[in-house]
Parts: sequence; structure tokens; C-alpha cells
Amino acid sequence: MTTKSQLGKLGLFDAKVPRYTSYPTAPHFNRDVGPDHFARWIGALAPGAEISLYVHVPFCRRLCWFCACRTQGTQSDRPVAAYLETLKAELRLLGAHLPEDVRLSRLHWGGGTPTLLSPQMMEELAGAIKEVVPFGHTTEFSVEIDPNEIDGERLDALAGAGMNRASVGVQDFDPAIQTTIGRLQSFEITRDAIEEIRARGVASLNADILYGLPHQSNARITESVQKLLSLNPDRVALYGYAHVPWMAKRQQMIPSDALPTPQERLELFETARRLFLWDHYEEIGIDHFATRSDGLSLAKKAGRLRRNFQGYTDDTAEALIGIGASSISRFPQGYAQNAAATGAHTAAIREGRFSTARGHVFAGDDLMRARMIEQLMCEFRIDAAEICDRFGISRAVVFALLRRVSDDFDGLPEVSESGLFIPEPARPLARMIARHLDAYEVNQAGHSSAI
Ligand SMILES: C[S@@+](CC[C@H](N)C(=O)[O-])C[C@H]1O[C@@H](n2cnc3c(N)ncnc32)[C@H](O)[C@@H]1O
Ligand code: SF4
Repeated sequence: MTTKSQLGKLGLFDAKVPRYTSYPTAPHFNRDVGPDHFARWIGALAPGAEISLYVHVPFCRRLCWFCACRTQGTQSDRPVAAYLETLKAELRLLGAHLPEDVRLSRLHWGGGTPTLLSPQMMEELAGAIKEVVPFGHTTEFSVEIDPNEIDGERLDALAGAGMNRASVGVQDFDPAIQTTIGRLQSFEITRDAIEEIRARGVASLNADILYGLPHQSNARITESVQKLLSLNPDRVALYGYAHVPWMAKRQQMIPSDALPTPQERLELFETARRLFLWDHYEEIGIDHFATRSDGLSLAKKAGRLRRNFQGYTDDTAEALIGIGASSISRFPQGYAQNAAATGAHTAAIREGRFSTARGHVFAGDDLMRARMIEQLMCEFRIDAAEICDRFGISRAVVFALLRRVSDDFDGLPEVSESGLFIPEPARPLARMIARHLDAYEVNQAGHSSAI
């Protein structure tokens, strides 16, 4: 039986551990990857291949104090209009490098707040994308929607452009918590936005909520989750609030002494988790829940669940291409990240080159570790047979590594004939165990698990 004190002893409560939406994680990218790599990797895609696109819009009308995303506040449309021109030029540049007949698997607009674009801007952006990669019958097009920054006309434009999945930012419904985190948003505004989205035939709806917020208690998170459940989202991301005021300066407005303790955070997560499970949601990886018929639940059942920069996905495309400032792309050869500042990004595109500023070229055992970590984050297990077959490694070597990992966590991750498995009570350790397999992170003992 895993007790909280055992989890605490293993470091769970002190750890600032990555969420592993990539391996290596973005802080370990280096400056060796530039526009030439990016252009080469695009050119190396097979004609007719499926690709996915992420488009970043780094602007918001309001700047919420809790938010750790890279975005800038603007009340004027001028910088947004100029940025849209950059995106259109970047898409044309991408089109010039892509092989023939590529097909669009997934398109995601994120930010920032992509819904601050005017309806006309939305149509222009969608049109520019379709000129480079046409939508197919199965293309999934999702957009992050701030309920405070949307209206009927913009929803008409998004639905007309083909949006079939909306991702709504909720965070928490409690007014006292909303005041403390600098994000006021009444239940009615969120409910109305969701009704308007559904009225336009948008097939699927995600919502983001947070645990670990200041003043959050079990009673308060219960009420917020119940309110959210009354809106019937198809998917929920239940993220742990990351308090990093040294990086996200706005968070200095949030009193640290109102934050729950690490043990309380775990309880908040467990409380919310139980409510989703009681309501027959399927648990997806470390922090998502989905209805039984949702694509993520089906992918989980079929063993097709994958991890990417947006969290969990059932996408099968071999490349995810990031458009816009700070966006990250993933190719079979490695990762490439665009210049983070909009000025530097725009300057590069104006000169007719990609803005790629950093990244990582896969080498050595990167892909094997990446797959092990992805399996842990998606399925709480490592399938030894798959790792041996895919990466040509002997069972002896893989099992020596898995046994060492298990020993270092008091035997909580179990090793059997089929590989390593994290039983349910030990699952809060999944990220810690993943970090143990991360050759770029120094683990608590000062070294990572070598092969
Ligand atoms: C980039 S934001 C865009 C959402 C949209 N602008 C909105 O406000 O609804 C996407 C999500 O990131 C999550 N997020 C932002 N800051 C966070 C933090 N400090 N810790 C955990 N999650 C965070 C929030 O749940 C948010 O809905
Ligand atoms: S939560 Fe959304 S609206 Fe608020 S600052 Fe972050 S990206 Fe902007």
C-alpha cells in the first residue's frame, strides 16, 4: 500500500518535475538547430505524408496573473494584424518547402488567445493554411477559446473555417479564487460560450481546469468540478497550477502563502479525479479525463495514445510543425523551436527564412528514452518487448535498467516478464520515474539512470 509519507520520502512533494510533453524537454534544447535543419527536415517528409500544424497567437486582451504562457497584452489590433501578415508569409515559406500532396491530420490554434483575432483575420488565417495544406475529411481543427474573448461572429468564422474541437479555459469557478489569480470569469459566461459553440455543430469540447490554486480547498474544487460536469465536456485537462513567479512575473501578484501545501495539492487532484471517475470519465494519462466515446479514450483502449506538446493525442502524423513565434516542431530527426520574441520571428520571416533559433537533433539513445517516457506518461508502463524490437536492444540491458528504476523507487514500480508497471497508488510518481530515465536531467541522487 502506498502511503503519502512514502510518496513524500521519494521526493514527490518537493519535485519540480517536467510534464514530459517532449523528450528531451524544451529547456534542454540547444542552439545547434537552425533554419537549415528545419528546411531540410520539412523537405525530407514523404510526398503524400500526413502532417499536423500548431499555430501560435501570442496576444491576449487580458493578462491573467496565474498564467505562465508566453503572451503579450494588447488592446489594439495593430500588432495582431502585423503578426497575421507574418503568419501568412511563414505559411507561404512552409508551402515552398513541403513535398507534394501532404495532408493535414491535426490543426491547433493556441496561445495566448487566438480568439482575439477578428472574424476576418480568422478567415484569412484559415485560408492561408488551406492553401498550403488542404483539410481532409478526417482533419481535426481545434482552437483555444477564452470565454471572455469570443462572440457569435467569431464563432461563426471559426465554425465556417472548419473548427470541430473547441478548448475552453475555465481554471476554477470560485469567485474568491478567480480574484486571487487575476482571472474573473462567471459561470454564466463560460456556460453561454459553450452553448454557443455547441449550437454551431462543433463536435467536441475540451475544458482546462487547475488544481493547486491559492485558497483552493477540497470543498471548493468539488464545487468547481461539479459545475464543469454540468456542462458535459468531452475532455478535461486537470493541470497542476505551476507557480513560477521568477519566470512568470505576473504571478508575483499571487500570495504564495495562500497556496496549498504539496500534500494538499495531491488531495485536491485526488478529489477532482474521483469526481470525474464517478461521472464515468475515462482517465487519460497523468492529467486528462475523457468521455468513453472520445477519441482519446478510444486511443487509450487501442494502445494508440501518444504524448505531444498539446498533452495527449491520437494523432498519427509523423511531423508536427509549429508556426508563429516560439512554436516548437517535432520531426523524426528532432525538435526545432522558432524565435521566442515576435520581433525576432517577424524579422526572420521578412528576410525570407525560417526563424528556428534552437532545438535538438535526436542522437544516441534519445528515441528509446523518449519512447519509454511516452509509454510511462500514457500507460504507466514500459513494454520491454516493444523497446527491444524497435531499438534493437537486448532484454538483459532493458531489464537491468528497469530493475534499477524500480529499486530506486522502493520497488513501487513493479517489474515483471512484460516490463515495468506503475500500479495505481504509485501513479503520482509517474513524472518522477520518467525523470529518472531522463539522461538530460540530473535526478535526486545526482545522476540519471545510465544504460
Ligand atoms: C495558453 S492558455 C490559453 C487559453 C486561453 N487564452 C484562455 O485564457 O482561456 C492554455 C491553458 O494553459 C493553462 N495554464 C496557464 N498557466 C498555467 C500555470 N501557471 N499552471 C498550469 N497551467 C497553466 C491554463 O489551464 C490555460 O487554460
Ligand atoms: S490564461 Fe489565456 S487569456 Fe489569460 S493570460 Fe494566459 S493565455 Fe492570456
